[in-house]
Amino acid sequence: MKNILFVESSPRKEKSITSDVCQKVIRNLQIGGDYIVDHVDLWDVELPPMNGDTLDAKYAIFSGQELTAQQQASWFALTEHIDRFAAADLVIIAAPTWIWGIPYVLKHYIDVVTQPQLTFNWTPEDGFTSLLKPRNAVLVTSSGGDYTLGSGNEDEDFVIKYLKLWLKTCMGCELKMINMTLSAAGEEELQKSYVQADEKIDEICNLMNSVEALI
Ligand SMILES: Cc1cc2nc3c(=O)[nH]c(=O)nc-3n(C[C@H](O)[C@H](O)[C@H](O)COP(=O)(O)O)c2cc1C
Repeated sequence: MKNILFVESSPRKEKSITSDVCQKVIRNLQIGGDYIVDHVDLWDVELPPMNGDTLDAKYAIFSGQELTAQQQASWFALTEHIDRFAAADLVIIAAPTWIWGIPYVLKHYIDVVTQPQLTFNWTPEDGFTSLLKPRNAVLVTSSGGDYTLGSGNEDEDFVIKYLKLWLKTCMGCELKMINMTLSAAGEEELQKSYVQADEKIDEICNLMNSVEALI
């Protein structure tokens, strides 16, 4: 049995392209393997606010101080999400482009689960090292335009580059990408993206369900 963590950041539910493609990946994986899914719907989950209390808790822990009741509650909520991420053999993330970047709920999630000494370390000698076990991640993006490599709009991409950097550097993930581009350019362009996505899904499922899949 392998654990999938599915992080959904579009609020559009069954109309969402990113959620739809992620669910296709999960359904196809489940045909060839034994998976359980931990679904984090970022529009339906309570994330601890990254406010003064939570940050005070973080610095109190690092300096070995006692936490207040409020700080303890915030820190517990935060580590629960880190534990869910850490338990995943495969992470699947649905990330539409919003104003050249990611939806704010996904940024909130990243700020919650990415913690020095828990998920990663940084030293001047070695830079960033992930403290989590290595694992695969499937990142499904979607945008009205096209910001992928070779599009000519790479400078406007604050989704793919950012999520790649985060997943590889801080979370120990080996990344597979599915980019659903030009969703605003009409049905024909969208269908082209779906055809390419289907090929990628087959590739990803064959890889994940092979013996050496889990790194
Ligand atoms: C709030 C908001 C902001 C958006 N900003 C952009 C943008 O900057 N660039 C772009 O190409 N598309 C933008 N879009 C379009 C979405 O990225 C596109 O419709 C995507 O396919 C939505 O994915 P989803 O169906 O999973 O929600 C935006 C959509 C919304 C709702």
